[in-house]
Amino acid sequence: MFLSILAALGIALGSVAASPGYLHYEIERRLVNTNSAIIRRQLSFNAPITQSADKNEYLINITVGTPPQKLAVTLDTGSSDLWIPAASSRQCRKGLCDAGSLDPSRSRTYNVIDQGGFNITYAGPGDSDAGDWVQETVTVGGSAPINNTIIGVALDGADGHGVFGTGYNTNEAEPNPSPNGTYPSVVDRMVSEGLLNRKAYSLYLNDLNQTKGTVCFGCVDSTKYTGQLVALPLQLGPAGTGPNGRDPTAVNAFYVTLTSIVFTDAVGAVTQLTPANYRQSALLDSGTTDTLLSSDVFSSIAAGVGAVGTADSLYVVPCSYASSNATLTYTFGGLAGPRITVPLSQVIGGLTVEPKKFDRPSGGCDLGIGGPIQGQVVLGDTFLRNAYVVYDISNDIVAIAQAAGNRAETSSIQVIPTGSSIPGVSSTATARGTQLTGSAATVLPKVLSATGSMVTAGTPTFNLGAAATASNARAPGSGASNGASVVGPAAPKAVIGAGLMAIAFML
Ligand SMILES: *[C@@H]1O[C@H](CO)[C@@H](O)[C@H](O)[C@H]1NC(C)=O
Ligand SMILES: *[C@@H]1O[C@H](CO)[C@@H](O)[C@H](O)[C@H]1NC(C)=O
Ligand SMILES: *[C@@H]1O[C@H](CO)[C@@H](O)[C@H](O)[C@H]1NC(C)=O
Ligand SMILES: *[C@@H]1O[C@H](CO)[C@@H](O)[C@H](O)[C@H]1NC(C)=O
Ligand SMILES: *[C@@H]1O[C@H](CO)[C@@H](O)[C@H](O)[C@H]1NC(C)=O
Ligand SMILES: *[C@@H]1O[C@H](CO)[C@@H](O)[C@H](O)[C@H]1NC(C)=O
Repeated sequence: MFLSILAALGIALGSVAASPGYLHYEIERRLVNTNSAIIRRQLSFNAPITQSADKNEYLINITVGTPPQKLAVTLDTGSSDLWIPAASSRQCRKGLCDAGSLDPSRSRTYNVIDQGGFNITYAGPGDSDAGDWVQETVTVGGSAPINNTIIGVALDGADGHGVFGTGYNTNEAEPNPSPNGTYPSVVDRMVSEGLLNRKAYSLYLNDLNQTKGTVCFGCVDSTKYTGQLVALPLQLGPAGTGPNGRDPTAVNAFYVTLTSIVFTDAVGAVTQLTPANYRQSALLDSGTTDTLLSSDVFSSIAAGVGAVGTADSLYVVPCSYASSNATLTYTFGGLAGPRITVPLSQVIGGLTVEPKKFDRPSGGCDLGIGGPIQGQVVLGDTFLRNAYVVYDISNDIVAIAQAAGNRAETSSIQVIPTGSSIPGVSSTATARGTQLTGSAATVLPKVLSATGSMVTAGTPTFNLGAAATASNARAPGSGASNGASVVGPAAPKAVIGAGLMAIAFML
């Protein structure tokens, strides 16, 4: 639902501007496509999910066409194209388009500019969506219509709902209809249509126990964070992650520098998970469900919580661990840089494993954290729920602060002006990272592994408090955890989230 705060702002400023310089909308966390064979942006897998799976994504309402047709699309900071499924597409005919689709025959502004030329291929196996490049009228939330917006319209593919990539235009799918490979993205168009002052927006996913968060294109809302927003200069991603032929020396995605990760157990004991001088590029990616950490860090966490790898390469723990008071704390841009604390309750539980596959009466839960894929560290939704992030494409900066939980008010919205200042930001953490190399990039994490179809829970070595003891009785007749062997899971194939990037395939 479009959350208009124009009236309140008008009072505060003494006038109601025709174009306030920002667009503030709710986003909604929803389970989508639970029957789809391949769930992208869920990066722990190397195989299609066959068990029932709950898949959370953060969707925003848009309209496409004239008269407008309503759809909800995944808001994805990790990619840069807007695409939607056509009603006649194979995925919609299979009944997967529960978030809406476009019927071109009912739109008088539908204009195909490159028939058959659209194919966005994400790095998950078989995860591509293909069809036509089209110019259409688009509204985001309740925005004014943005005419002749270039979008992809899928006729075939893996996904039943569209994606709204809000990243750099230099990370758009290729080939695309622009002779130079870069067409004006929706965010570009919001600026050129005068809706925003510059290409910057802030995103608040909110707690896992809430279904609504907010995005503000062109504004910062100080009620949604605690402490200070600190700027982080963006850096280059690992070599080879950008689309083919693009300038490898230019920032084209939201990579920041992670400098420390700490686990704090249920009684406050601290385990430092990263070495001194750790400096790792990490992608802030709302379109990826889990968080993918370097191999050494992930192995320590998996062992500490007794996570067990399933045949599907999910890492599973008893769901009761979500009530542990333990936390992870991430620090960016140097040891004095901003810290984001993430309770286990915001990490565990996005995806469940049936009781018949995990020896707990209620089944198991996805740990929400995995190892690196293709040398990438990705901070997905299991990190971003606890961070308030301002993404400033115009200045190659993000600003980050600890998110305030469950805040719905919009009384403190400040417009992001032209230039480079970000409301609420007064300091910058500048330490830059190197990329993953060697074993941290390539060695698969060691976790307890299932030996049969039933996975037996592991034994945590971290103190998870009551969550890991009383409420955690084994299902009758199940085996002991010492029957599991420590092995690496089957090698993940190319399983990079949609959000991670659009891998470009040249003709
Ligand atoms: C999106 O629109 C649907 C109705 O079309 C509404 O039920 C839902 O609340 C809206 N979601 C958001 C986040 O605005
Ligand atoms: C899109 O591109 C991918 C990767 O090249 C390919 O596997 C897939 O078949 C293409 N899809 C269509 C519908 O052409
Ligand atoms: C968009 O198109 C509509 C209908 O053609 C037109 O009335 C409107 O003025 C256009 N908007 C802009 C900003 O050009
Ligand atoms: C690329 O082409 C598009 C039009 O297709 C244009 O809007 C954009 O400014 C061009 N970019 C560069 C870097 O030339
Ligand atoms: C949701 O989580 C927050 C902490 O993040 C807590 O304060 C609140 O009580 C929870 N609400 C519900 C309904 O569980
Ligand atoms: C978390 O901490 C609170 C307060 O210290 C305590 O009451 C509660 O039992 C703890 N929860 C678990 C699951 O350990």
